[in-house]
Amino acid sequence: KVYTDYFFDEPAFNTHDGGYIPLVTPKVAPQPLAVPPLLKPDKQTATDDYYTVKAEASETQFLPGKKTKTWGYNAGFLGQTIVFRNGKHTHIDLKNALPELTTFHWHGLNVPGPITDGGCHAPVYPGKTNHIDFDVMQPAASIWLHAHPCPSTATQVWKGLAAMVIIKDDVEDQLPLPRNYGVDDIPLVLQDREFHEDNQFNYRADYDPDGVQGHTALVNGTVNPYFDVTTQRVRLRILNGSNRREWRLHFNDDLAFAQVGSDGGIMPSPVYMTHLMITCAERDELVLDFGKYQPGDEVTLMTDDTPLLRFRIKDYTPDDTTLPEHLVDIPEEKPTPGLPVRKITMDGMDEQVAMDGKKFDMQRIDARQKVGDVAIWEIRNTNSTKNGMVHPFHVHGTQFRVLARNDGPVYPNEHGLKDTVGVNPGETVRIQVKFDLTGVYMYHCHIIEHEDGGMMAQIESYDPDHPKTYHLMDMETL
Ligand code: C2O
Ligand code: CU
Ligand code: CU
Repeated sequence: KVYTDYFFDEPAFNTHDGGYIPLVTPKVAPQPLAVPPLLKPDKQTATDDYYTVKAEASETQFLPGKKTKTWGYNAGFLGQTIVFRNGKHTHIDLKNALPELTTFHWHGLNVPGPITDGGCHAPVYPGKTNHIDFDVMQPAASIWLHAHPCPSTATQVWKGLAAMVIIKDDVEDQLPLPRNYGVDDIPLVLQDREFHEDNQFNYRADYDPDGVQGHTALVNGTVNPYFDVTTQRVRLRILNGSNRREWRLHFNDDLAFAQVGSDGGIMPSPVYMTHLMITCAERDELVLDFGKYQPGDEVTLMTDDTPLLRFRIKDYTPDDTTLPEHLVDIPEEKPTPGLPVRKITMDGMDEQVAMDGKKFDMQRIDARQKVGDVAIWEIRNTNSTKNGMVHPFHVHGTQFRVLARNDGPVYPNEHGLKDTVGVNPGETVRIQVKFDLTGVYMYHCHIIEHEDGGMMAQIESYDPDHPKTYHLMDMETL
């Protein structure tokens, strides 16, 4: 079966927003897609990896003329791609070379909150270096790193503080998937930006409490990119790294593709489709097969009617590898008996956004869940079905299962592990959540202006036999 629709509710698409900013096709000659280099470890042993991640200010040539002032991780804009391996103990020096405080949040990584996780309680002050170390203990996946200081996550990500992180493991190593990084295994960070005078960003000028958008699409920071295809099959690790934009992906000729991975890793089975909508912070891993094209052909990845990335077909060796029906097993876990269902609401739009009727407070722990318990959460988007928006719900420190949408089936590509799920207006999405580690974790809407605007709360994963107290920052003392 090949799915041909976007799954989400059409009346809730951001195109219907009063403040919607349409993408325009840039008047810049096509440029080769930037593929971020892999970050070199400082040191590697059989059991341990050591990295230094430096947040720094720089300038980036997006457009002809003046360079744009940008921020990045070991890079001018965005960051070098960081590779973790399941089972390894990983040490990272977090260096802040920016003129203001930042945090290093590992979105999708199962590590202790609130410090290692890098949410807003883990500031790294300008000129300082913090150290974290943790065990990587989750399957192969495409996760990401981004800044998370409250309430300026949105401005820092807009300047460029976001990077792809790839987790590898022995299971994924054995699957017939492309994995030659930069050749047939390509990260694609999708973002949009507005360029003002002298090609500069001006976040304040573009501010919209329902999420900031720009007219220009960037893929890995490249305007109007093309990619030269030199293998029949290509794997894309797509990250929606936009503050607010949803991307509705399809090819100009409706080429069908396979989705093989979601936020938390490889899915149980590939899902074949021609159209895919990705909401903020989600990741989708796709495998494309260019076998029907000849050298010299071009096929274009689009979002709505705007070209995003042109694939120029070059000479390639025929490759008849097919994807197996079954990719990986995801452990089935039964909900812990006797637990009440946790009900959560995502409320409002614009400045009115809230979580469970309340604005975020860094000092308030909103909920508690025993470490290791498997709990059912019901997340309801209380927006009106007529003019509400899709709110992407994200939880730190865990990968969850999506069980139901309005008591009905989940979308066909939601059978794998997820850390972010788009909830349609008026809809209730049921998920199953387990924390393996103790800590304080945030959960929020991943339209970043909604997160900064208070559609966020925090939960403590606790061990009754080893109670802990946490030093929670507040906005004043930061
Ligand atoms: Cu992408 Cu609170 O995180
Ligand atoms: Cu996160
Ligand atoms: Cu939202």
